Amino acid sequence: MDSQRTAGARSGLDLAIVAFVVLGSAVLFTQVELNEWLFARTRELEALQVDEAPAILFVLSTCLSWFAWRRYREARAEVSRRQLAEEQLAALLLENRRLAQQYLQAQEAERKSLARELHDELGQYLNAIKTDAVSIQEQVNGPQASTVSAIIRHIDHLHAVVRDLIRELRPVALDELGLQAALEHYLDQRQQRMPTVHFSVSFEGDLDSLREPLNVTIYRLTQEALTNVSRHARAGHVTIRVARTGSPADVSDAVTFEVTDDGRGAEPGEIRSGLGLIGMRERVEMLGGQWKITTAPDRGFRVFARIPVSEHRSVSP
Ligand SMILES: Nc1ncnc2c1ncn2[C@@H]1O[C@H](COP(=O)(O)OP(=O)(O)OP(=O)(O)O)[C@@H](O)[C@H]1O
Ligand SMILES: [Mg+2]
Repeated sequence: MDSQRTAGARSGLDLAIVAFVVLGSAVLFTQVELNEWLFARTRELEALQVDEAPAILFVLSTCLSWFAWRRYREARAEVSRRQLAEEQLAALLLENRRLAQQYLQAQEAERKSLARELHDELGQYLNAIKTDAVSIQEQVNGPQASTVSAIIRHIDHLHAVVRDLIRELRPVALDELGLQAALEHYLDQRQQRMPTVHFSVSFEGDLDSLREPLNVTIYRLTQEALTNVSRHARAGHVTIRVARTGSPADVSDAVTFEVTDDGRGAEPGEIRSGLGLIGMRERVEMLGGQWKITTAPDRGFRVFARIPVSEHRSVSP
């Protein structure tokens, strides 16, 4: 809009300059009597028809004006075409973002219901089988007793697998204990699975009164960032920092999330995005946050996000 106004003002100025130059020339030529002067000079060259030059120049300038007018109209049509294309592109990007957000919400809902099914169905049946096996174990002796013991061990193993799966799908601790406790629990387990990596963890501010989407987002960011560290980084040290800056009444109330490792890093322009980094960015932007990756070969990898706590400042789909 502003650029249109500037272009309009510039055309007006150009027109004023042209009018001023033409008027000035008209006054000047009446003073010096240009035509008489030209006539006197060109009479000797009558054989060359030089006195017809003004008429020819007039035709030339008319043609040039016509040419300029055509170019002007073409340029305007091109600008309109580009504006339309830009508007369509912006609409497509918005639609794309909306779809990505819907996908993440559907994925979260699906995980939640899957975790519930696993817990309520599989978990309960495993419990029932174990109870039966224990009562059989009490009634039998010898080789049969050791077979039943093996069955109980298998059930315990299955139980642990299902529990891990449920935790991965839906962090129950998140609902029951709040974000900080759920993260501490998750990081403890991660540390056990990555014994060669040294974890430095820091939590700052009140992280237990955040709304549900923010809790889930920070939890999922932590999961994906640490999965990436274990898959790609070959790091010796990883720092996880989650901090709430500002108080609930504060407009700058936000949660800062940061995972930094000292691993092999990556060339920023050559990162082949899988779904992990894209999903992380979508989750952050969905809540109106900012997202940044900093990395270089052999200089580690850092993911950073800053998400406003207040719902009103989130990006609407
Ligand atoms: N901590 C890290 N250190 C080094 N490179 C990393 C790190 N995290 C991500 N990368 C690079 O960024 C790429 C994209 O990561 P992203 O999580 O999007 O995909 P992915 O982990 O390969 O697959 P997935 O879709 O299963 O997450 C990785 O393939 C890797 O090259
Ligand atoms: Mg990944």
